[in-house]
Amino acid sequence: MIPGMEKIAVIGSGNVGRTLAAAWVKAGHEVAIGSQHPETATVPAGAAVTEPLAALEEARVVVYAIPGAAMADTLTAHTVALEGQIVIDATNNMSGGPEMSGLRHLPDGVIGFRAFNSVAWENMADPVIGGEVADMFFAGPDGAGRETVAGLIADVGFRPVYAGGSPAAFAAVDSVAGLFFALAFGRGLGRRLAFRVLTENENI
Ligand SMILES: NC(=O)c1ccc[n+]([C@@H]2O[C@H](COP(=O)([O-])OP(=O)(O)OC[C@H]3O[C@@H](n4cnc5c(N)ncnc54)[C@H](OP(=O)(O)O)[C@@H]3O)[C@@H](O)[C@H]2O)c1
Repeated sequence: MIPGMEKIAVIGSGNVGRTLAAAWVKAGHEVAIGSQHPETATVPAGAAVTEPLAALEEARVVVYAIPGAAMADTLTAHTVALEGQIVIDATNNMSGGPEMSGLRHLPDGVIGFRAFNSVAWENMADPVIGGEVADMFFAGPDGAGRETVAGLIADVGFRPVYAGGSPAAFAAVDSVAGLFFALAFGRGLGRRLAFRVLTENENI
């Protein structure tokens, strides 16, 4: 395997899944989209498409880009196949409950990160707005997985900003989505909107 190249399964062939898959194919990763309808799903050139469990089989990184309300059942169905992978949850459960993320449904022992949940997919397709590279906040355990996730965020074109691994850090990354909704829709500023941290600390 080429150093830095990841085998990625993207679960869900909708706006977010297709956009992230296209970026990672372009960056040289091996991407398989796991779709409920692999025979009819539209996927970016260079990405494989298969049933979700088959996509999980080979992957080291698994990204969920399905409706948030489907996460409990989906992760239950994926329990055995998820052993040893790094999971990234991009989903938002819009049903009005307190928890936007589906990570609480992860099987024990699986490493879960929160990322790609906080801005609209149009900004994932082009993270440069007004000449500025947008930040993508992420939360998850410190260690090798953190570097992998940061690298994949950078490959989409964002500056990765690690919020930490505590429950408060996960909640903070969830709440960025709330701020996006308030500005983009509540205030009517539109979906082409993202965030950037200003700091003099180079270790961001
Ligand atoms: N849209 C955004 O700008 C945005 C931004 C950040 C985060 N998010 C979150 O990311 C997730 C995906 O958003 P999206 O805009 O890509 O949605 P979408 O375009 O509706 O795509 C979701 C995909 O999930 C799969 N799916 C649908 N129902 C499912 C079910 N019951 N069980 C398993 N898979 C199912 C389908 O793919 P297959 O037919 O291939 O299985 C569908 O194309 C959502 O949780 C959303 O809240 C969205």
